[in-house]
Amino acid sequence: MVTAADTADLRRTVLRGGRPVALDGDDQPAFHIGVYDGDVLLATGNVRVSPAPWAPAEPAWRLRGMATAEGQRGRGVGAQVLDALVDHCRAEGGGVLWCHARTPAQRFYERAGLVTRGEPWDDGDPVMGPHVVMWRRL
Ligand SMILES: CC(C)(COP(=O)(O)OP(=O)(O)OC[C@H]1O[C@@H](n2cnc3c(N)ncnc32)[C@H](O)[C@@H]1OP(=O)(O)O)[C@@H](O)C(=O)NCCC(=O)NCCS
Repeated sequence: MVTAADTADLRRTVLRGGRPVALDGDDQPAFHIGVYDGDVLLATGNVRVSPAPWAPAEPAWRLRGMATAEGQRGRGVGAQVLDALVDHCRAEGGGVLWCHARTPAQRFYERAGLVTRGEPWDDGDPVMGPHVVMWRRL
């Protein structure tokens, strides 16, 4: 496990186009994973206890901040991060895993067993692009 601060630079670079912005949700408790090559962070992601909006009474985890450094993608490190996050959620009681997936990453999440729910939407931020809700039971 790593801290939110350990992974913030990579998440800003990959997910915010390098903008020095505050990262939504980093002030809340979450479980962060990092895959390293030596001192270099290759990939990260995090989960936190957070009910799915459509099933507020069920135990649930929200997945956020999935990011693999450019040049390191397609080598399995993102899947390593996601597997470790799933293992953590299961060890802590399981339930529903859900996220706001960027549509270009949809296949990545589908390979991990998540399915879409509802229609994609676009908040109009050209860096963030369109998203779709994805989820699975653990
Ligand atoms: C999405 C992301 C985290 C995936 O990380 P990664 O390290 O490239 O993923 P992996 O190499 O572990 O890929 C795991 C599987 O998903 C597939 N996959 C990964 N990204 C994919 C994509 N964009 N489209 C289709 N398949 C993809 C891989 O081919 C691999 O399949 P396999 O198991 O059959 O070999 C990474 O591409 C990324 O940082 N993208 C930019 C930021 C982003 O969109 N993050 C998600 C925000 S919701």
